[in-house]
Order: sequence, then C-alpha cells, then structure tokens
Amino acid sequence: MDKSQVIKRFLPANTPTPDDQAEAFAASNIALCKYWGKRDRELNLPINPSLSVSLADLGTRTRLTPIEGKKDKIRLNGKVVNGSSSFATKIVEFLDLFRSSKAARLQVDTHNSIPTAAGLASSASGFAALTKAINQLYGFDLDPAIQSAFARMGSGSASRSIFDGFVEWQMGVREDGMDSHAVPFEESWPEFRIGLLTLTEAEKTVGSRSGMQRTLETAHLYQSWPLQACADLEKLKQAIRDRNFEILGQTAEQNALSMHATMIASWPPLLYWQPESVATMQRIWQLRESGVCVYFTMDAGPNIKVLFEAGQQAVIEQTFPQVKVVSPFACQTPVASG
Ligand code: DP6
Repeated sequence: MDKSQVIKRFLPANTPTPDDQAEAFAASNIALCKYWGKRDRELNLPINPSLSVSLADLGTRTRLTPIEGKKDKIRLNGKVVNGSSSFATKIVEFLDLFRSSKAARLQVDTHNSIPTAAGLASSASGFAALTKAINQLYGFDLDPAIQSAFARMGSGSASRSIFDGFVEWQMGVREDGMDSHAVPFEESWPEFRIGLLTLTEAEKTVGSRSGMQRTLETAHLYQSWPLQACADLEKLKQAIRDRNFEILGQTAEQNALSMHATMIASWPPLLYWQPESVATMQRIWQLRESGVCVYFTMDAGPNIKVLFEAGQQAVIEQTFPQVKVVSPFACQTPVASG
C-alpha cells in the first residue's frame, strides 16, 4: 500500500482552497524507549512501540504561504534551500501527498530552534510541524491521531512530535498503518530534565533510516530487540506513573544500549560512538557510583542526552559545563504565589 493511497482516503475529494497562510510549531522529541526497525518501509511502520519525551521549545516552526509559479520555494532558517537538495525533495514529495495538481505552489519557511550541532534529528519536529501546517492551511481539521499517522509517513519519530510531554507511539497492526500513531501519555513530571551534550560535530556516515534497515537485515541479535522494547515500554510507563526516576533512568539507558548493541552486531558494523561518547558514559557511571541519580540515552549518533531531575542540575552543569538543559514540563510548573 502506498502513502498517497492511504492519505487520500482521509482527505476531501477536492483539495479545499488554502488559507492565506498557516504556521505551526512542533517540539523535537527524545525516545526513552527507541523505535528501531520497520515492518513496512513505505509507510514507516515500526516493529516495536516506543515512548518519548518532547523538548519543550526546541523544535521546528513552519509557515506555509500559497504562491504563484511552477515550483515550491523552500527556506530553512531564513536561507533559500536548493530545490534539488534532498531536504527540499523530501518536503515537496510530502506536500504532494496532500494537494491536488491544481493546488497553488507553496512557500515553505522552516526554522529549527534545535541547536544545529546538537546531533538532534530535526526530521521528527520538521515533519510534525509540516503536517500541522498543512492541516491548517487546507482546513482539513484532522484528528491529532490522524495527523500523527501522516507525520509518521514523513519520518517515523515525527509521529510522536505531534504531541507534547511524554508520548507513546503505538505500533498498530493494520496493513494501512492507520492504527500506528502516537498518543499522549498524560503524566506531567515538572522536575524532569534532559541535558543535551554535543560531544563532537563529526558528520555521521550512516543515517538512522539506513542504519535500522542494515540492523534488521544483518544482526541476529536484532531478534531480541522487540521483546526488550515491549518490556521497557511497560516499565517506563509504570516508572512515570510512580515518579520513580531510578527505574525510568535504568530502563531508558538499558534500552538505548541494547539498541546500540544490535547496531554493533550488524554487518558492516554500525558504531555511532566516538571516544568522547564512551568517556561521557564512564563519567556518568562514576557520578552514579558516587550517589548522583543520573542516566543517559543516545540515538543514532555520537552525542549523549543526560537524564536527571532538577535536584541534580547543579552537579550536572558542573561536570559538563557545555550541557544545554531542557525542562520538558517547565511551563506546567505551578507559579508560586507570593
Ligand atoms: C534512533 O524517525 O529518523 O532516533 O522513520 O526512517 O525517518 P525514519 O527514522 P527516524 O528514526 C529515529 C531513530 C532513533 C530512535 C527514536 O527516535 O525512537
């Protein structure tokens, strides 16, 4: 089944006249239980469910404006993007899924507030913001779960960026994938912190899309991954409900390392770690030995995301002076009356 067949079933037969402009923001997200491996590559349907936490105001803001002409115009952080670049091609292909050929071309202005060197994928917040903006521009008025399923077709992790806070991406079983979308996990944890550590700006040579495919095809170890992920998802949800940071941290760290174990067991081997990554892991383990409740997670790159609670922020900032600390639930902290 291809993407456009699936999407068309949820859109009006004739694309409505677009508004003058639409603008939407989506936060980036960090998975505590990772998505790694697809059962359908066309629709980005995952082999396992996943769970993430969103990065507050770090994400993507995208504005769509109908324009005259034969081609879309795309700008990233204020700069015109070459129409034949892979970035522009992916956006245009995604827009094509939603508009009829008669529809006007669009100017796409997209801004990432994610520090560019932080090694955070902008595709998650990028496709989520684009999906939200498309929904607004054409007045589709789609349910957020459907927007999540659509964003997933741009990039799997984008399904989770439709929502804020803790978010679960349910893997679903349907062939058309419409039950494979994210749902908010309605719990708030105001003391929860994520420290973004940019350890190296070295370009990664294998992206997550081809990395997960290689793992699936070549690593026997991968067979154990769905079991690990399903068990971790339940543990994480319970730890969040109980506000048990130790269990949450342990589970997220073990989940990330298990994913990396499957990558390393692939052929050719996929090792995203740099010497700085390993040194940072060891520093975190030392801190833990000394009684600091701190854990980490890592994605398909060398950088580390440190997980801790507000009470440990001073020691984390002292240990890692370059850390950028994000408070995913800060805006929900009650304001002290005074
Ligand atoms: C390691 O969502 O970037 O960050 O669906 O192919 O676009 P595609 O992959 P993508 O993969 C993210 C992988 C990960 C784990 C995660 O975010 O869950």
